[in-house]
Order: sequence, then C-alpha cells, then structure tokens
Amino acid sequence: MSIRIIRQPLTTVDLPWIAAGFFDRDAGLASDLRGTSVDPLAARLLEEKEIKGSAGETVALYEPVGFQAKALLLTGLGSKARFDARAAFTAGVALAKRLAAKPRETVSVSLAAVLEAGDPALVSALVEGVVVGMQGPGLHKSEPNRHAFEVVLVAPDGTTDEHLLALEKVAARGEIVGQAVNMARMLANTPPSEKPPVVLAEVVRKAAEGHGVEVQVWNAARIRDERFGGLIGVAAGSDEPPAFVTLDYLKGGDAPVLALVGKGVTFDSGGLSLKPSASMEDMKSDMTGAAVVAATILAAARLGLAVNVKGYIAMTENMTGGRAMKLGDVLTMRNGKTVEVLNTDAEGRLILADALSYAAEAGPARILDLATLTGACIVGLGTKIAGLFSNDDAFAAEVAEASKVAGERVWAMPLDDDFKDQIKSTVADMKNVGGKWGGAITAAKFLEEFTGSIPWVHLDIAGPSWNDNEAAARDAGGTGCFVRTLTAYLENAQA
Ligand code: BES
Ligand code: MN
Ligand code: ZN
Repeated sequence: MSIRIIRQPLTTVDLPWIAAGFFDRDAGLASDLRGTSVDPLAARLLEEKEIKGSAGETVALYEPVGFQAKALLLTGLGSKARFDARAAFTAGVALAKRLAAKPRETVSVSLAAVLEAGDPALVSALVEGVVVGMQGPGLHKSEPNRHAFEVVLVAPDGTTDEHLLALEKVAARGEIVGQAVNMARMLANTPPSEKPPVVLAEVVRKAAEGHGVEVQVWNAARIRDERFGGLIGVAAGSDEPPAFVTLDYLKGGDAPVLALVGKGVTFDSGGLSLKPSASMEDMKSDMTGAAVVAATILAAARLGLAVNVKGYIAMTENMTGGRAMKLGDVLTMRNGKTVEVLNTDAEGRLILADALSYAAEAGPARILDLATLTGACIVGLGTKIAGLFSNDDAFAAEVAEASKVAGERVWAMPLDDDFKDQIKSTVADMKNVGGKWGGAITAAKFLEEFTGSIPWVHLDIAGPSWNDNEAAARDAGGTGCFVRTLTAYLENAQA
C-alpha cells in the first residue's frame, strides 16, 4: 500500500467514498464542506443531537447533493481548540474501522479540517489511525471481517505545490508509523503457541532484514554462557527454549546511543505461582514490550532517522514444567546480584534484569525499557495510561513530551529509595516481590538495580498494551502502544 494525495475541491472527487472531519459545537464543519449541501444537513444533525462531533464518531450520508462521490462519512474530530494527535489518530481509526468492514477499493479522506485545526504534522496521526483501523485482530477468521482499502488523501484546492510536497512526506511517515503499530499489534494478537521465543525471534529478524538493522539472536546455550540467570530461571519451566535478540540501528553518527529494552514473555501462566484462568486470558500479550521495541526500531530504519538505537529483547514463556523455578530458589543475575524468587509470577523483572545489565554494559547514554510489568500499575492508573518511572528528570520529561506529541499517555510515578526496603531478602541480595502495596513501584525499584546508574526510563505498559473490548474508535486486543511515542522521541533526538 502507498498513500496518494490529490488536490481538488471535495465536491469534484470522483471516488465512491469520502471521509471528512468535523468538529464539535466549537467549530462544526471545515471549509471543505461549508457552503455545500452537507452544511444544513450537518447543522441539523448537530442541533438534533444525532451527532456531537466528538472524536471517533462517524455518520454516513449517501448520495450527497452536488458531490461526485456516492457517499460521505462525516467523522468527528472533537474540539477544534483542543485538537491534537490523539483526536486525529482516534478519528482515523474510527473512519477506517467503519469503512474497512466491507470490501472497498478506494476511500478518500479530506485533510481540510485537520489542516485548519493545527499543525500539518497532525496529518501523520490521522494517517496512522487510518492504517491501524484498517487492520483488525481477527488473525484467524475463516472469513476476513476487515478489508484494507487504498487511501487517497484530499488536500484543499488552494494548497501550494510546496505544501503538497510537505504533506506527502507527512503522510508517508504516518503510513510507516501506522504499519509499525500494526506489526506490534499483530505480534501481540498472535496465539501464544504460534510465537514461542525462537519463532518470535526469527519473525523479528526477518522483519528487520534489509532495513539497515543489524540483528543477533542468541539461543539458550548462548544465554546460559552469558550468565543470564534471570532469563534461564524463568525459561526453566517451559519446554520452549528462551531467546535473546539484539537489534542495532546506528545511523546517527556521533549522536548518543539510546538502548531500548523489551519484555518478551510470549505467554505468562504465572509459573508455579499460577494465575487464575481469567487473568491468563490475555497473557499472550505479555511480549508487547518486545514487539514495540522491534517495531519502533524498524520504523526508525524505514524513516531513515539519523539516530543510534540498540534494542535488547528477552523472550521466554513462563510455565509450570517439572523444572520450573520454585519459591525460595535463588538466581544469580548477569550483573552478579542474587535474587530470591518468592513469586514466579513476578517473572518480567527477572528477565529484564539481565537485559538491562547487558544493555548498560555497552555504555549507552540512555536506557528505556517497556514492559507489561504489573497489575498494580493498572490499579493505579487504569488501562489507558502507562506508568513512567525514571532516575533522571530530564530524560523523563523528554519521554513525557514525546508521548504528548504522539497522542499517548504516561504518568510519572515515584521511585523513592525507601521502597527498596520492600524487596530486601534474608538469604539473597534481594527478592523479586515487594508485598501488597506499591507493587508497580517496587517492581521499578527492582529494575533500577540493573541499570548501572545510566539515565533510565521504565514504562509499565500493562494497562495500555491491551483492550479487553472493542469500540467504534478502537479494536479489542493488542494496541501496539508507544510505538508512536518512541518514534516521536527518536525524531526529536536526531543528530
Ligand atoms: N504480566 C504480568 C503483569 C500484567 C498483569 C500485565 C495484567 C497485563 C495485565 C506480570 O508478569 C505479573 O504477573 N505481575 C504480577 C506481579 C506480582 C506477582 C508481584 C502482578 O501484577 O500480579
Ligand atoms: Mn507474571
Ligand atoms: Zn508477565
């Protein structure tokens, strides 16, 4: 797929479907529809409260008078004054999800409203949404229920050649970022038995091939030789061997290196500290951090960003086999620290510890990890906001700013030293659980022990990684969260 841009009045667009944005009561229609036959119609719909114009709302109008198109999909954009990347993305998902429900060759999407509301860069967020909305979670449906279409963006008639060229660039960026989000979603949605660590590692290797990313995959023997005690410990309960993948994209010259570390638990049963069945239902997505790291690095490479990024992905299942870790077992981690395992369901921090230590050894300027780490973080922040933990205020602020630009949400959490008391062990250097309270924070304190005091951000994405149910503007299942934020961060960090 490649997204095209045309420039002409909306009334003359001779394609079956046009999607056009409109705002809520603060602004209503944009110039592309103002003064057309749709104008009084939309005013009436708003007046009768049939539509509100909130982001993600859609209403179809057939045979609009004075238009060449057969149908128009009015797509709510929310408040014009507060229009941002989140609203643009949401609108894109909603329109694409609705129109992709049936096979259609081509859909045109008017850019007028987005351009009137703000930054042309927001066109990228709209396109990202459209690309994401065109792909559903039904990987194994015998009859597909989502049908991708060709996208034709319609720039307003008066757009200059120069501006059009700039919009083409922004749209191309949006397509790449949207595809990266979809890759992360698809990997999270893949059934766990189809993506054991070795298979997932190969999928990542293949995806990165030919894009200027150097990929290395370690097998179980190598992981053992490298003294990854945490990863070996967690993998012990599974018949599937673990894998460790590094991805190097080094196109930033002398620019500082960012290490991205991802949790790749391809299925988390909890181990001997077994989860109840309902809590296990979505645990195929416990590898979202890994998928997001891989997808982001691929996006950076496809965008040709002038950055230095190194990815580190630890992959394993967490199972209950005869050789599984037992409560009270002590693991010796990559950096020599010993850990008493008192809950095998706190496995993410064990595999991340080795990955973080190894990442830190290479001396990057910054380390950022993503992990579906704790249910406690969902208790605290809900399902849509990631917990942000950091030992460096400036780095934390940069990541928070990138999340704003991208339209995703993080919230800074504390990392005070007294929380470390909760992970003291009587037999080892520390234990892997911190008791009843502040579970997301004690998990982060545990990770901090392995960061070598390098500026570090930890995103606990347990909540935003997954949607339990679908809505008009989002699919159920994996979300590919923070690919957009990390791409924005890397663009900003370019040499
Ligand atoms: N993968 C889970 C965290 C999780 C929970 C992600 C719900 C997404 C949705 C993690 O490995 C886990 O089991 N954490 C435990 C930690 C506890 C044993 C200290 C938890 O949150 O219950
Ligand atoms: Mn777990
Ligand atoms: Zn887990």
